[in-house]
Amino acid sequence: MSAIFRLLALLTLVGLSSQRPGVLDEISMLEASNSTLLRYPTDFTQNIVPKAIHSHNDYWRDVPLLTALSFGVASVEADVWLVGETLHVGHEMAALTTARTFDSLYIQPLLSIIAGQNPKTQFTVNQTSINGVFDTSSATPLQLLVDMKTDGPSTLPFVLSALQPLRDLGYLTTCVSNGTCTPGAITVVGTGNFPAGNTPLDGILALSPRDVFFDAPLTGKLPSQREPLNSTFDITVSPLASTDYEVAVGWSGIGNISDAQLSAIQTLVADAHGLGIRARFWDTPGWPINARNNVWKTLTDNGADWLNADDLEAAATMF
Ligand SMILES: *[C@@H]1O[C@H](CO)[C@@H](O)[C@H](O)[C@H]1NC(C)=O
Ligand SMILES: *[C@@H]1O[C@H](CO)[C@@H](O)[C@H](O)[C@H]1NC(C)=O
Ligand SMILES: *[C@@H]1O[C@H](CO)[C@@H](O)[C@H](O)[C@H]1NC(C)=O
Ligand SMILES: *[C@@H]1O[C@H](CO)[C@@H](O)[C@H](O)[C@H]1NC(C)=O
Ligand SMILES: *[C@@H]1O[C@H](CO)[C@@H](O)[C@H](O)[C@H]1NC(C)=O
Repeated sequence: MSAIFRLLALLTLVGLSSQRPGVLDEISMLEASNSTLLRYPTDFTQNIVPKAIHSHNDYWRDVPLLTALSFGVASVEADVWLVGETLHVGHEMAALTTARTFDSLYIQPLLSIIAGQNPKTQFTVNQTSINGVFDTSSATPLQLLVDMKTDGPSTLPFVLSALQPLRDLGYLTTCVSNGTCTPGAITVVGTGNFPAGNTPLDGILALSPRDVFFDAPLTGKLPSQREPLNSTFDITVSPLASTDYEVAVGWSGIGNISDAQLSAIQTLVADAHGLGIRARFWDTPGWPINARNNVWKTLTDNGADWLNADDLEAAATMF
């Protein structure tokens, strides 16, 4: 008797569920349907929130650029080598290949991603601003650091010409000589001359309009010998200023930071912020993990604007 009752109850449930699927069933059915209701033009980076993380040696990752974007990383770095007339990307000469160029790893993918975020439709005919790579924050530029590994004055013209397709489409952050800057989808910054990186400051200062900027030397020296950024540097030249953490601060992340080390961070950050420039500390400890995280937290708590990271997934959890 009770077995029959249970069978009837079960049949009733099955009957009901076939009449009206639950919300999760409906989601599965829609997902399987490839319905046009579920897609929109700018969904390439759907749900990804940009974070002030710099992807150190981005080109080392299995999939450069895209892996960084997938974590919301808003700054990437390419080391470029001028060989003949081509800019190759890699950490050293021995790592270069004909396939891995500045154009193939960065320029072409960026052209395609940004074109995708700026569809030409009946709805965008009046739109004058350009959307950046992040769908959740279309006004946030992607910072592209270009570390010129070969002679600066000879390499810079090739970097400028490699950027031409992005420039032609109005994708680059640009400043004109009266100091007016127009934010673009990409802000290109040549990395400076302390102690590595050959971007020529004179070459950057000579650009007018300027759409490649200079990573200002926050300090290259011990804090006691620091030279504050001089009047050459303002946001029309340097949206970014960087320093070698190991040299400028040096706290390992284990035990307590000393007053002098903490003051070094705060002083350097204040130097940059006083000029409206963002501060980045590179060469931060990568391990032990706990020490790395202590350093990251101390830097961000004291105003550093970018986390310089090798492990992007871990850095993304700091936000
Ligand atoms: C889904 O729809 C798009 C555009 O309508 C089409 O290009 C694609 O091939 C479809 N995919 C599948 C798996 O049906
Ligand atoms: C574009 O601007 C025109 C002229 O103001 C207006 O008539 C039209 O509705 C606008 N289109 C959209 C998609 O906003
Ligand atoms: C600066 O120059 C740009 C373009 O040349 C112009 O649109 C802008 O109004 C100028 N701004 C000032 C403050 O002169
Ligand atoms: C400012 O500092 C930079 C880098 O240290 C240097 O190249 C430049 O000559 C300095 N400019 C002045 C006006 O002191
Ligand atoms: C580290 O700092 C904490 C909190 O200020 C303090 O309690 C502790 O004694 C310090 N440790 C050392 C080894 O100085």
